[in-house]
Amino acid sequence: MATAARRVSEAGKAEASSAGVGTAGATAHAWRRAFRDLPREHGFEPLRVEGQLPEGLRGTLYRTGPSLFSTFGRRYGHWFDGDGAVSAVRFDGGGGARGAVKLVESLGRKEEQRRGRAHYPNYGTTAPTAWRGLVAGLTGDLKNTANTSVMIWQGRLYALMEACRPTELSIEDLATLGERDLDGAVVRTFSAHPHYVPARRAAYNFGVRYGRHIELDLFELPDGGRARRLTTLTLPGATMVHDFIATERHLVFFVPPLRLRLFRQLVGIGAFADNLRWRPEQGTEVIVVPIDAPDRPRRFTVPAFYQWHFATAFERGDELVVDYVRYADFASNHWLGEILDGPARSPIGGTLHRAVVDPARGTLTDEERAAVPCEFPRVARAAQENRFVYVAAHSDAEAGRGMFDRLARIDVARGSIDSIALGPAQYPSEPVFVRRPDGRDESDGWLLVLVYDGMADKSCVAVLDARDPARGAIARAWFDHHVPFTFHGNFAPA
Ligand SMILES: [Fe+2]
Repeated sequence: MATAARRVSEAGKAEASSAGVGTAGATAHAWRRAFRDLPREHGFEPLRVEGQLPEGLRGTLYRTGPSLFSTFGRRYGHWFDGDGAVSAVRFDGGGGARGAVKLVESLGRKEEQRRGRAHYPNYGTTAPTAWRGLVAGLTGDLKNTANTSVMIWQGRLYALMEACRPTELSIEDLATLGERDLDGAVVRTFSAHPHYVPARRAAYNFGVRYGRHIELDLFELPDGGRARRLTTLTLPGATMVHDFIATERHLVFFVPPLRLRLFRQLVGIGAFADNLRWRPEQGTEVIVVPIDAPDRPRRFTVPAFYQWHFATAFERGDELVVDYVRYADFASNHWLGEILDGPARSPIGGTLHRAVVDPARGTLTDEERAAVPCEFPRVARAAQENRFVYVAAHSDAEAGRGMFDRLARIDVARGSIDSIALGPAQYPSEPVFVRRPDGRDESDGWLLVLVYDGMADKSCVAVLDARDPARGAIARAWFDHHVPFTFHGNFAPA
């Protein structure tokens, strides 16, 4: 690891101890210590297992997240900006687990190492000089942090970040193999949120391209055969699209009324995130793309709202039913930036909603399904109706301003919430559902959750029985170090 990275780790420790973390009863905000650089990279090695890992749980949980918080002494300005590290925990089905974690060796990191200094602007971090900001703005020369999600496609592993191309990693040892364009399908960007549609035996994704027009490329990645670009649509303005959702027949986008102040961005005044303005008067544009007729999308505008993540969506007659975490506006972006330095000034504030979209009539009706503040929604069955949505959630202790400190299972049909505590100072990531082999119904499986233990200052993958998640972890596989908080991950069955 770079010398600069080690130095920041030390500084982080000092800060944590001065905050009193680890003293008796002082667990408040213990999550802060996880925002220190990854302390160690390694290939697969045995993990200490606590409890009994289930027989039948065989395969690997891959996750990625920002894992260096500065570059050559220059602190990043937003959680989204850290250099990515991919972690992997491989369950052997016989009670054992092995873990690996490695930084993605991006071309951008290599360029900074060659120069011996910071070189790139990022989402919430300005370029080191105005000139560099201008060049990056004109040429799109960004650092591909690969820090947002992972995709396993046709047996290959990719780390994803929405402003760049996928980065392929070795599935054996997480070594970085390089950026890929997926059979030439990816023009410039590939979002970190592909969605699989079992009925079509294909995953779908998009990329947003900034240029004279703001364009939305749509991609199809079949289980067999080549990836292809379905179509390219033009967006209403210089906005940001983080996620979308797929049903068996449609791709659905809620395009938020963010507008980038292009001149400021080009001349390097402020970071990208600072230059995104919330323009509610423009409304949120709903785009429904028929997968079999992608050049005939249905588009209409509804009163403004924002979303980072979708849970699932499905077809119901002529309607599309969409479960997602909804926000009134873009204020959650401040939480995502401020959390690096301690509790944010205001709660993140999203809750699980259900929207019913009628593409022919051009209507969207919406209803909150559970009042618990949450994020990172996951379900058992993609592109289908699910009774349960699993989320990372907040207890009252953090009041929504700190890190997620519990899980919740939301019964979408009834609107009821099962809160799942993992213990004091335990901070979960997004819960990933893994189906039990020959699993019979929606809950027949496990939840795999990368958890930061703020008391031990170590991370583990906790395994919960999805039939009774309120019981808490039935087993944990422990790294001997902390893994900085991750955004998204996926499980590859053995
Ligand atoms: Fe995301």
